[in-house]
Amino acid sequence: MPINTAAWYIQGHPTLEVAPAPYTSPGQGEIVVHTRAVAVNPVDGLIPHIGRFAYPWLKSPAVLGFDLAGEVVEVGPGVARFQVGDRVLALAVGTEKNRNSPAEGAFQTYAVVLERLACPLPDELKYEQAAVLPLALSTAACGLFQEGQLGLRHPSALPDPTGETVLIWGGATSVGSNAIQLATAAGYDVITTASPQNFEYVRSLGASQVFDYHREDVVEEVIRACEHKTLAGALSLATGSAGACIEVLQASKGRKVISMASTPVSFEPLSQKKRSPLLLPQLMSQMLATTALLQVKARRAGIRTSSIWGASLMNDAVGQLIFEDFLPAALASGRYRAAPEPEVVGHGLETVQLGVETHRQGVSARKVVISL
Ligand SMILES: NC(=O)c1ccc[n+]([C@@H]2O[C@H](COP(=O)([O-])OP(=O)(O)OC[C@H]3O[C@@H](n4cnc5c(N)ncnc54)[C@H](OP(=O)(O)O)[C@@H]3O)[C@@H](O)[C@H]2O)c1
Repeated sequence: MPINTAAWYIQGHPTLEVAPAPYTSPGQGEIVVHTRAVAVNPVDGLIPHIGRFAYPWLKSPAVLGFDLAGEVVEVGPGVARFQVGDRVLALAVGTEKNRNSPAEGAFQTYAVVLERLACPLPDELKYEQAAVLPLALSTAACGLFQEGQLGLRHPSALPDPTGETVLIWGGATSVGSNAIQLATAAGYDVITTASPQNFEYVRSLGASQVFDYHREDVVEEVIRACEHKTLAGALSLATGSAGACIEVLQASKGRKVISMASTPVSFEPLSQKKRSPLLLPQLMSQMLATTALLQVKARRAGIRTSSIWGASLMNDAVGQLIFEDFLPAALASGRYRAAPEPEVVGHGLETVQLGVETHRQGVSARKVVISL
């Protein structure tokens, strides 16, 4: 039996602890992956601080982490798409309510993942490059394609232009890097926002126009750019960007729908070592107040808003659309880029904590990755 080790989250502990973990064999429709690279998402750093509120079901100790790439070492009953030795990336869903299983977190040597949330890798794609994709890609796909979100036409190899435009606020985020590529692969024109150093980057992913979100008049600029366009909706991918999306949609022609991946208030201050015990209740009340104001503003403008839960595609057809129908061929043909670039900050599970601390907004068009 292989020897497994995990970076454990224990409720009440601010940092992850590396310790032995049981090796779990795969069940029906599951595979075990020997993880070679994992990536860090903003939520991984926040669970130790807001887990009781955001993940009240999570049993402690738990293994966190959504993003992994590695080799298949065992396949469960009913698995048809993979064999031992295959190189894959996968979305790990151990912290999701209907899984709640430490064996299924990414931050361990041997992780159990669902066959339907894994994708084969072309030989030339390194594990560190592939690991940036799973949660960011899934979140982008949920926002663009799920019923109840923008519900857009699906991506394909040779899309016909739809004649419609999607506004993606935060194109240089990891989620945005995927949203731009998916929306253009579905035949939509994309207008986005980023810092000037990322203008070329977001254009290279397929955005037709990009605006600097730091500018005071950015909303007016985006409204002008949308003047002769028909919008298919907007994705709000940066903290506090939903208000700007509401203003643009209100002033433009087309569908009045916004899907939001971010909270309106940043919880990043919670990861600071020295902080007031009142910080969490303060941020929670700020968030409730800001959300209520946004909803009033959206309703007055006739705009529907909805929040995205990136792992929810495990429960609907969007999971198969991405991990089986679209991504394998798109990666193999080079049509889809593993973006943003990985920023490898450590080697080994001991460095996952360092990765979690390194992760911050401002790691511009790069994603924190640990090689294992
Ligand atoms: N709901 C979900 O299931 C889910 C899943 C994953 C992520 N998220 C959320 O989605 C957001 C993006 O996550 P991520 O992992 O993709 O982030 P990330 O890769 O860490 O994004 C970093 C980038 O955000 C950009 N940015 C920061 N503030 C911005 C603003 N006001 N307008 C436009 N761009 C801005 C910066 O781009 P420049 O360098 O160009 O300035 C920065 O490089 C986060 O809020 C995260 O918590 C939600």
